[in-house]
Amino acid sequence: MTLEEVLGNAFGLLARGVADRRSAFHTPTLATVGADGAPEARTLVLRGFDPATRLIRLHSDARSGKVASLAREPRAQLHLYDAKAKLQLRLSGRTAVHASDEVADAAWRGSRDFSRMCYAVEPAPGTPIEVPPAAPRDAEGGRANFVAILLRFETLEALELAAEGHRRARFDWRGGALQASWLVP
Ligand SMILES: Cc1cc2nc3c(=O)[nH]c(=O)nc-3n(C[C@H](O)[C@H](O)[C@H](O)COP(=O)(O)O)c2cc1C
Repeated sequence: MTLEEVLGNAFGLLARGVADRRSAFHTPTLATVGADGAPEARTLVLRGFDPATRLIRLHSDARSGKVASLAREPRAQLHLYDAKAKLQLRLSGRTAVHASDEVADAAWRGSRDFSRMCYAVEPAPGTPIEVPPAAPRDAEGGRANFVAILLRFETLEALELAAEGHRRARFDWRGGALQASWLVP
């Protein structure tokens, strides 16, 4: 397998992760840095991927801890592991949080009612409460709390496990042109 094939395979699996809810890449882990400098990681749904711009789209609640963390430190890493493909990806770059622009509007329009309802929850996510709340049933009231997070990844690291030898590759777009290299696994 060439480096080009590794990247093509990774991009193909990312695209499938958006389209196929059964794909392991459908629910990646987003890692951010908290206010105190400590790492934070949580599962999100992979909502969009544009290979031309390397933009990943995720949806979240403007009131959530991760959005506060990204406001302070926009750098983040997305971790994905597909056990069937034995492939781990780590995508690193900067995020932009879109709340009330065309990016957010388009993402909201593309969301199903069932997904929209999450954003109508009160009080804000992460607030301590006595008992778990009932599921919100309002598909429109949450728009003000909805954000689209765009992550433009500048590095992609792929690790593929194989009996004949693990393969680890790094792709780096930071210098403008793509730099690709194998790494010792
Ligand atoms: C399968 C799964 C999918 C999830 N998808 C999302 C999502 O798309 N957006 C989101 O904000 N939280 C999602 N969550 C909840 C987050 O993992 C997290 O618990 C929540 O957003 C609060 O994170 P925070 O306090 O770090 O902001 C999902 C959780 C699971 C288990």
